[in-house]
Amino acid sequence: MKKEWFHSYFDESYGSIILDTILPDYTKNQVRFLQEALKPEPNASFLDLFCGKGRHALLLAKQGYTVTALDLVPSFVKELQLKAEQECLPIHPICGDARDLSFKNYFDHVIVLFTSFGYFSDEENIDLLSKIRTSLKPNGTCLIDIENRDYLLRFFCKEKWRKKSYGWLLERNTFYQNTSRQRTLRIVLDKHGNATESERILRLYSEHEILQMGQKLHLKPIQSFGDYDSSPCRSSSPRIITVFKK
Ligand SMILES: C[S@@+](CC[C@H](N)C(=O)[O-])C[C@H]1O[C@@H](n2cnc3c(N)ncnc32)[C@H](O)[C@@H]1O
Repeated sequence: MKKEWFHSYFDESYGSIILDTILPDYTKNQVRFLQEALKPEPNASFLDLFCGKGRHALLLAKQGYTVTALDLVPSFVKELQLKAEQECLPIHPICGDARDLSFKNYFDHVIVLFTSFGYFSDEENIDLLSKIRTSLKPNGTCLIDIENRDYLLRFFCKEKWRKKSYGWLLERNTFYQNTSRQRTLRIVLDKHGNATESERILRLYSEHEILQMGQKLHLKPIQSFGDYDSSPCRSSSPRIITVFKK
């Protein structure tokens, strides 16, 4: 069987080229936003689904919340586990596939951040949202943060070059109208001219589709933001950050 793209796209190199280069202040601001949007009780429990190396999980745990953090990549989860142990933080790291989520009425809040929703088939994506709902306690909330299809298509960028300390990062994008999917070919060029390629295939959503999916699953929309500055979501907003209540 053909390997799904996310089994090879997310690896140590993604960790060092993307996750490790996110500025700490940006993450701090995201966590401040999360607290304003979700208003967690002092001892609330969180699930950070698709947690990466746990940059949000670590900050949330430092604020006293209990955090379960799940990711597919063993080295990301290991790194988080070591940090949590060193700092005695209430984090429970899990290495696994988000599609196997099986918690029931367990979390006060579930967060899915930095465009981690839309990796699977349409049926699997909706099934994942249903599993997220099941994992929430009654009245629990989930927050999904994705890129806005309307914005991406309006300012569609076929090719983007970025200068990095290790060389160049090139992204080539193609959009498939019939499936609403964006294929991104990411090419890392090191200083010696060696190129490494990887591919991401992401289902893009407009706000109304996310809201409809929630409605189908009896998730009540509380608010939709257009970015981490708390602006409302519009078609011209770069992101769709939706809060649903069970
Ligand atoms: C865009 S990154 C976001 C990481 C993290 N939320 C952050 O903001 O730093 C997406 C993450 O999803 C993880 N991932 C990809 N496919 C997955 C799957 N099927 N199940 C669980 N995690 C997965 C990747 O390993 C990666 O760490």
